[in-house]
Amino acid sequence: MQWYTGNTFYDSLLIAGFAYVVLIFVGSLFGTAAYGGRFGQGKRNKGIKLHAKTGWIIMELPGIIVFPVVFFMGSNADQAVPLFFLAIWMMHYTNRALITPLLMRVQPGTSSSFALNVVIAGWITLFLHGYFNAAYISELGSQYTIEWFSDPRFQIGLAIYAFGFILNIHSDYILRNLRSKNPSPDEPRYKIPFGGGFRFVTCPQYLGEILSFIGFAVMTWNLGAVFVMAMTIGNLVPRAIYTHRWFHKNFDNYPKERKAVIPFVL
Ligand SMILES: NC(=O)c1ccc[n+]([C@@H]2O[C@H](COP(=O)([O-])OP(=O)(O)OC[C@H]3O[C@@H](n4cnc5c(N)ncnc54)[C@H](OP(=O)(O)O)[C@@H]3O)[C@@H](O)[C@H]2O)c1
Repeated sequence: MQWYTGNTFYDSLLIAGFAYVVLIFVGSLFGTAAYGGRFGQGKRNKGIKLHAKTGWIIMELPGIIVFPVVFFMGSNADQAVPLFFLAIWMMHYTNRALITPLLMRVQPGTSSSFALNVVIAGWITLFLHGYFNAAYISELGSQYTIEWFSDPRFQIGLAIYAFGFILNIHSDYILRNLRSKNPSPDEPRYKIPFGGGFRFVTCPQYLGEILSFIGFAVMTWNLGAVFVMAMTIGNLVPRAIYTHRWFHKNFDNYPKERKAVIPFVL
């Protein structure tokens, strides 16, 4: 059966991957992943708990390992367009797996909030989308000749990706600076963030992440990237709504005009 690439293993795993997206999305309607101060202490946080920084790094490490390993096994791994996507991927996941967690400012006494089951769910996703994208980009996809750089899908996708990535790191920067470098235990743990994307939504960091993956899907034009995009939307839109409700419940003066994740809409 050929429904996408003709590679039976790849195509079957892709179907399983999309079924997993549906499962994660349905699960997120009943509660969000157990990590972080707001959600890391709830009833979903059972069993082993990791320090926030350790949890993030261990969970995201496959992002910087699986893609390059699979990529360099492909026959197009020395071509300019695939190498460009490798560079984008490595930049994205070096930020997510190493830079963001290492810069994170953790309130003393609140650090062990990262549930091991979140790490395992993260690994499944990262193994799948690392494989889907790397195998397609460096081996199975046929569109990535040098002309792809002048294709409107590549150019529009890259612009969306760049906007999303900058919004994400700028929003993470604003959040990080709400706490002092070495927060004391009696400092308020949460404050209302202002400026940048926070003028419009409660979770511009999530909006930036979602836009990055929409941009990546458009610029690579492949179903493996649609998988990452769907997973990110299915995970982060409900989490943004939970976070938005949390702010309204905990801060009487929370800006009324701010939406959760999509400016002026949601
Ligand atoms: N691709 C994906 O599916 C995916 C999934 C999840 C996250 N991400 C990305 O990973 C990054 C981190 O995500 P996250 O869910 O941990 O984000 P987050 O809830 O924004 O938290 C990030 C850091 O900021 C702190 N913080 C958050 N709100 C604060 C406030 N109001 N006042 C003071 N400190 C505050 C948090 O502290 P506490 O830990 O103490 O709450 C944590 O250290 C984001 O860029 C996100 O887009 C991507």
